[in-house]
Amino acid sequence: MLNQKMRKTALVWSLVALGACAIMNFYFYSLEGARGMYVWYNTALFQALIVMGLIPIGLVILTFPLEKLKEKLPSTILRWVSIVASVLVTLVSVGLLAFLIAGPRLGDIEPAKLNLINPANPIVAQAALGEPTISSGKANDSSAVSGAASTKNPRPQAASGEAQAPGSTKSTTAEPRLRLSFSSDAHWGADTSNASARTEILQGISAHKPDAFFFLGDMTEYGFQAMHWNLALGDLEALIPNVPFRPVMGNHDALFGGQYNYKRIFFPKGFSSDSGSPYFYSIDAGAARIIVLDMPWGTEQFGKRQHDWLEATLKNSDPKVPIIVVSHSYYYASGYRDPKTGKPWYDNYETIPAVTPLFEKYGVDLVISGHNHYQEFLQHNGVSYAIIGAMGGISDPPPTYQSPASKWMAVATFGWLDVDVQNNELVLTFRNEKGEALHTELVAYK
Ligand SMILES: [Fe+2]
Repeated sequence: MLNQKMRKTALVWSLVALGACAIMNFYFYSLEGARGMYVWYNTALFQALIVMGLIPIGLVILTFPLEKLKEKLPSTILRWVSIVASVLVTLVSVGLLAFLIAGPRLGDIEPAKLNLINPANPIVAQAALGEPTISSGKANDSSAVSGAASTKNPRPQAASGEAQAPGSTKSTTAEPRLRLSFSSDAHWGADTSNASARTEILQGISAHKPDAFFFLGDMTEYGFQAMHWNLALGDLEALIPNVPFRPVMGNHDALFGGQYNYKRIFFPKGFSSDSGSPYFYSIDAGAARIIVLDMPWGTEQFGKRQHDWLEATLKNSDPKVPIIVVSHSYYYASGYRDPKTGKPWYDNYETIPAVTPLFEKYGVDLVISGHNHYQEFLQHNGVSYAIIGAMGGISDPPPTYQSPASKWMAVATFGWLDVDVQNNELVLTFRNEKGEALHTELVAYK
């Protein structure tokens, strides 16, 4: 009788543990970036968190044949082990679930006091409004990096008259129809992030006065920590309060429920997008169409919905307007093999076969990403790729693998990328944190 009761107790506890573990894992893998972390990071730990739910019930099942023995001690001991394991698994599961739900919701975050771009609204170029420009200013002038600029100041003319890096393509001098800036991977909150580089870059972008500044992810080191977002917002609000700004969510921003913080800061009530998602959408910028993809690690978030939306968006785009795709993770890239995980941080084996055929088929002109902490320009099958993970996050080591698509690369430099949309070409200027041009490329669009 006692044995029967204990058998039932062990079975019930093992089912409770299995259920708690399943709910925790189900919630975790419903979060943005979690599946990517499973694939690209410490997989053994995440496998253990899944398998642990099966251990108590496995032990209970083992007791069934032992019951047939004359000696009851082995089955009794195993049942006790199962009950203890069930309690431990339940506690770990409930604790992790509480952390995932409450972690990102703890701590105050003020709504961003920034000139946020709502993806539902078109970006209006200052050139289209007929705002006068002057040609004397360079982004690397001391006056151009002296702090947040008033919107009333005339803008310096991009690219015109700037020193060209050896081997770079000669730049155009025509007034651009649209001026865009990009940078990525600032990692506010990380001790290793270079705060002075971040500040100089924001000051340079403020002085440059682009029509829009896209930040391509990894704003924070840990997206579930309100403090890291507040550090970022403090700098952004002080240095680029007037620059039209659109951040993309990176894998670090998404960590452990960070999507909750990302959405409440950068996709507040009233914002919407043509896809219905806050993570992927297209933006009409007049002289260019900008497509934002949800690619925090690889293709883990690139399901049928995003794929079909991307294909339809590309298919229906005006063939005369250049298409610029942005995402956190890259496609073609040079890099290195992660010594801890063995993962290749170069030519992305997930995104290249899954996404680049669409870029090539529908004539995407330029793809800009971060994730790797380098600056790089690459071309493959008629599509140009830029990587600009250089806004202060610790530099990646010198690459041990050079992508066959690579045309130019800067290692251990911080900076940003300006893209000027001219009548027939895109003018790309890679800059260091001082605003000095490191390299220029012209990308003709069809
Ligand atoms: Fe990063």
